[in-house]
Amino acid sequence: MRILGIESSCDETAVAIYEGGKGIVAESVASQIETHAKFGGVVPEVASREHLKVLPALTQQVLSDADCDWSSIDGIAVTAGPGLMGALLVGVSYARSAGLVNDIPVLPVHHMEGHLFAPGLSPEGLPAFPFMSLLVSGGHTLLIRVDGLGQYKVVGQTIDDAAGECFDKAARVLGLPYPGGPEIAELATSGDATQFKLPRPMMHKPNFNFSFSGLKTAVMYAAKGCEDFNAQAKADLAAATEEAIADVLMKKAMKACQAEDISSLVIAGGVAANKTLREKLKQDSAKHGVQVFVPDLAYCTDNAAMIAYAGFLRFQRGDHIHDDWDANPRWKLEDLS
Ligand code: KG4
Ligand code: ZN
Repeated sequence: MRILGIESSCDETAVAIYEGGKGIVAESVASQIETHAKFGGVVPEVASREHLKVLPALTQQVLSDADCDWSSIDGIAVTAGPGLMGALLVGVSYARSAGLVNDIPVLPVHHMEGHLFAPGLSPEGLPAFPFMSLLVSGGHTLLIRVDGLGQYKVVGQTIDDAAGECFDKAARVLGLPYPGGPEIAELATSGDATQFKLPRPMMHKPNFNFSFSGLKTAVMYAAKGCEDFNAQAKADLAAATEEAIADVLMKKAMKACQAEDISSLVIAGGVAANKTLREKLKQDSAKHGVQVFVPDLAYCTDNAAMIAYAGFLRFQRGDHIHDDWDANPRWKLEDLS
């Protein structure tokens, strides 16, 4: 079975083809990061227009890279939410039209389900169910117990900002461009995290929720209070910020695994690309008898391979028979089954 996946929920237009027994046979991602960087964040209207501009040609290119045409596609999987409404509608309308013209079933995929199953695209694959997933992106920070496809229990989540948002906002304080996560990570390599004392919000609270807005404010005050905020001080503050975010994520993820008696942890979403977080998790998980599974770097941030793969799993299960769905910018993971 060959599934063509389409992703357009935010600032990445992506298309990929997943084939059962083979894996990803062709894929492409067109990033809008440079277009939005000058605004310091994603502008929804601009995002929709950019998706519209590139999606048709990107799809034709991926079909041709896979040496096939629509006649050899068995299903189309498209991100239907959550995300920016206008951006989602571009992908959904295009998928629906292509499905109609070529007589191919179209299936809506939840963007976060795509992230959840992304480690299944790497050679070591997904762990056996149940596993815990730490989903950390620009819009979400979730700890989810996964008992199977569509069986999700949210164990913990942020009560304010997402971890990625904290990286992005701290980056602004440091004068770094959007998206801030990779920029902070890069600058942190020449910094000394011990030069700044930053809080670890809610780290010792007896639940699995997160809070990052206080940390963002603390970074702002640390910068303001620094007598000479030179290049080295900026690198030190970048390192301290990264360390604080990674510490909280790691501690809560381990506690959640222990509480749910789970021995496999999957990390996913854009922030899962962070090397410090990956290393901390790998080191600490061994102490707790937890095995960590991470997607390939390219499958941490938004892509269509994860949408094609999650779609493949659902097509295999026969989920494409329903036609009463639409783009839903606030689609909840818990509403899936
Ligand atoms: O999953 P994603 O590509 O898009 C959303 O669905 O939000 O995540 C984007 C987020 C941004 O906040 C970005 O700063 C962060 O992931 N990010 C990182 C790294 N790469 C991307 N954060 C920390 N370290 C990174 N290496
Ligand atoms: Zn995402």
